[in-house]
Amino acid sequence: MKIAVIGTGNVGGTLGTRWAQKGHQVVFGSRDPEGEKTQHLVAGAGPNACAATAANAAAASDIVVFATPWSVTERAIISAGDLTGKIVVDCTNPLKPDLSGLDTGADTSAGEQVAAWAAGARTVKAFNTTGSGNMQDPLYDGAPLTMFICGDDAEAKQTVAGLAEDPGFEVVDAGGLTASRLLEHLAMLWISLAYAQGFGPNFGFKLVRR
Ligand SMILES: NC(=O)c1ccc[n+]([C@@H]2O[C@H](COP(=O)([O-])OP(=O)(O)OC[C@H]3O[C@@H](n4cnc5c(N)ncnc54)[C@H](OP(=O)(O)O)[C@@H]3O)[C@@H](O)[C@H]2O)c1
Repeated sequence: MKIAVIGTGNVGGTLGTRWAQKGHQVVFGSRDPEGEKTQHLVAGAGPNACAATAANAAAASDIVVFATPWSVTERAIISAGDLTGKIVVDCTNPLKPDLSGLDTGADTSAGEQVAAWAAGARTVKAFNTTGSGNMQDPLYDGAPLTMFICGDDAEAKQTVAGLAEDPGFEVVDAGGLTASRLLEHLAMLWISLAYAQGFGPNFGFKLVRR
């Protein structure tokens, strides 16, 4: 698949590299595509990866992944241009600057706001409920962590489920896009355990059933 990854930090860099190594065509959309940091990322991701401006990356891709700080995500979506018909993947968490909670009200979520900003796109929420180290390696004693996803477009969700399975996650469909509210609070639990409770980044959530 042709995937634009907007944001070349912990999440975008890790996911884009994993997907390029799995054979997808990845374009990192960066504010500085020719810069040393971006080019180092591209070189590490291998021959299936390149970098461009956000607009050029999005125009060349069927899937556009936003892995940007929440405060700049609306601007990043605008800079990506027309996203009509594309699958948009929202990885963000709308964190307050001091990580004490979420910056969205109880009756909405980053996923729903991203869908509104990316009007006409098929938005799926994914990759927000665990740390980027787990995106590099989601296996614990050989068993996969769960990646929860949600969205209103079944076909888009199926595509994104495949992208989560590429690095090794087991995927659980949490429902429509309003379930972003739940997933963003689940992310807060991960962040609180990792930092306030001192777990560090090497743990994750796994759904078990009987
Ligand atoms: N870190 C995690 O483990 C984790 C896990 C799940 C979800 N998330 C969420 O995923 C999103 C990305 O997190 P991250 O840790 O990958 O962030 P990060 O390391 O800070 O990277 C964010 C990237 O966004 C791009 N960007 C565009 N405009 C920017 C601006 N004005 N200021 C700063 N960066 C800008 C930058 O790429 P260019 O310089 O190339 O433009 C930057 O590398 C956040 O919403 C976060 O809450 C993070």
